[in-house]
Amino acid sequence: MQCNVFAFVALLLFPLCRCASRSFSTYNPNPTEVAKNAADANTTQLTSAIQGRAIDRFIVIWLENTDYDKAAGHPDMKWLAQRGITLDNYWALTHPSQPNYVASVGGDYFALDYDGYVVVPKNVSTVVELLESKGISWGQYLEDMPYSGYQGFEYLNQKTHANDYVRKHNPLISYESVSLNNTRLSLIKNFSQFERDLKDHKLPQYFHITPNMTNDGHDSSIKTAAHWARSWLEPLLENKYFMKNTLVVLTFDENEIYSTQNRVFTLLLGGAVPEHLKDTKDHTFYDHYSLLSSVEANWNLDSLGRNDVDANILLPIANKTNITNVIVDTTYKVNNHTYHGYFLDDSVALPAPNITAINRNGKPVLAKIKDTWKSVYSSQLSQSYFTPTTTTVSAQLTNLVTVSS
Ligand SMILES: *[C@@H]1O[C@H](CO)[C@@H](O)[C@H](O)[C@H]1NC(C)=O
Ligand SMILES: *[C@@H]1O[C@H](CO)[C@@H](O)[C@H](O)[C@H]1NC(C)=O
Ligand SMILES: *[C@@H]1O[C@H](CO)[C@@H](O)[C@H](O)[C@H]1NC(C)=O
Ligand SMILES: *[C@@H]1O[C@H](CO)[C@@H](O)[C@H](O)[C@H]1NC(C)=O
Ligand SMILES: *[C@@H]1O[C@H](CO)[C@@H](O)[C@H](O)[C@H]1NC(C)=O
Ligand SMILES: *[C@@H]1O[C@H](CO)[C@@H](O)[C@H](O)[C@H]1NC(C)=O
Ligand SMILES: *[C@@H]1O[C@H](CO)[C@@H](O)[C@H](O)[C@H]1NC(C)=O
Ligand SMILES: *[C@@H]1O[C@H](CO)[C@@H](O)[C@H](O)[C@H]1NC(C)=O
Ligand SMILES: *[C@@H]1O[C@H](CO)[C@@H](O)[C@H](O)[C@H]1NC(C)=O
Repeated sequence: MQCNVFAFVALLLFPLCRCASRSFSTYNPNPTEVAKNAADANTTQLTSAIQGRAIDRFIVIWLENTDYDKAAGHPDMKWLAQRGITLDNYWALTHPSQPNYVASVGGDYFALDYDGYVVVPKNVSTVVELLESKGISWGQYLEDMPYSGYQGFEYLNQKTHANDYVRKHNPLISYESVSLNNTRLSLIKNFSQFERDLKDHKLPQYFHITPNMTNDGHDSSIKTAAHWARSWLEPLLENKYFMKNTLVVLTFDENEIYSTQNRVFTLLLGGAVPEHLKDTKDHTFYDHYSLLSSVEANWNLDSLGRNDVDANILLPIANKTNITNVIVDTTYKVNNHTYHGYFLDDSVALPAPNITAINRNGKPVLAKIKDTWKSVYSSQLSQSYFTPTTTTVSAQLTNLVTVSS
């Protein structure tokens, strides 16, 4: 903590001065090991029918690195927008990719500002534990991941050696609470398994979709990403099983030009979008933390006690749960920084969640999280440890660190 205070003061005086970043060894199995592991890997089909207050299925589809106007202007995106609600005030949190994915399931990016192999310690909980507390099935589908629960840094296309599956675009795998649990690993699957679960009517109630590095626009262009999104979704939008009480959030992890506001084109699609709201816009402020708060509100879940607590709720869910969203002044918001914390500086401890917090749907922090963190929370509070708990500009401005491009 001594170093933390010192580092904080030093940072105010010399914004470029840093302690060492936390380092991890990279796991990247060779093709022989991949084949062996694949033979041992388990895959689970997990489904459930826990009724939500607004929807029964929540899906997030991730595309990559595109500025708002570029995405909104593409004809395939316009085609999709006609079938859904455009969120024109939805924000990514920082740069580059990985912290955005990490934060979307854990409520914080823990000062991460790079795409390397990182591990979030097992005492940090994610949306998985909130969902499991009510028996809500979950999963992830990542295109071209070689086997379920794959933990390698990447997996190249075996014919062309082009980038294909990458760990940095896998929201849950960096959390040890998932990666050290074989049951949970068996729910992290590839697109072949998506096709199978769809056909068998065994899709989970909460899942993420990550296309490969070409289809998501990362190594290609908005043309490829928009074309992929339309062709992947077009048959699903006609599929009664897929559509029933389903809300799909199609979003981008971050925008492309770091010096501009990190607002990303986002669409709501699926059976939960009322007919009369198709081809309309919603100007409510949202960010990737809304992916957590909306799920909590829908199934009336406890919270993680992090940035999930105060985040605005997507209107199809807010309206049915009687939650009033707050107006956020975005005049000076850019969201192109990180803050001084855990991954950036190996002398800074993990931030405790706010164990006294009450989320937008009026629920406390999950009991297990409170038990784990209560003593650390008290000591960090008495030492004025910086705990980012809100998405407001003022909170972010207290502790900015430049993200290297
Ligand atoms: C997808 O995962 C399954 C289950 O681990 C594996 O058998 C299969 O080979 C993978 N498919 C592709 C295309 O990598
Ligand atoms: C990405 O997936 C598509 C099929 O959706 C495939 O044709 C393409 O080869 C994959 N890209 C890479 C780099 O492997
Ligand atoms: C797969 O499941 C079997 C049976 O439950 C278990 O013995 C084995 O350890 C599991 N393998 C992995 C890689 O989790
Ligand atoms: C592992 O995951 C299963 C199901 O996802 C869960 O029930 C179990 O409690 C987890 N185990 C640990 C030690 O967290
Ligand atoms: C973040 O945005 C501000 C305002 O546009 C800009 O001055 C700054 O250079 C940007 N930082 C990075 C790392 O691009
Ligand atoms: C939510 O309610 C507001 C106010 O009645 C309405 O304007 C909006 O269209 C509704 N949105 C959804 C998605 O239900
Ligand atoms: C929201 O308010 C309406 C009208 O007062 C009420 O019928 C409904 O039960 C409320 N829903 C929830 C989840 O509180
Ligand atoms: C924790 O949450 C409570 C209740 O919302 C709030 O009053 C308090 O300011 C928060 N504490 C911190 C350190 O953010
Ligand atoms: C969480 O785990 C990290 C890494 O092992 C450890 O440094 C920290 O003290 C733990 N915190 C709590 C509250 O268990």
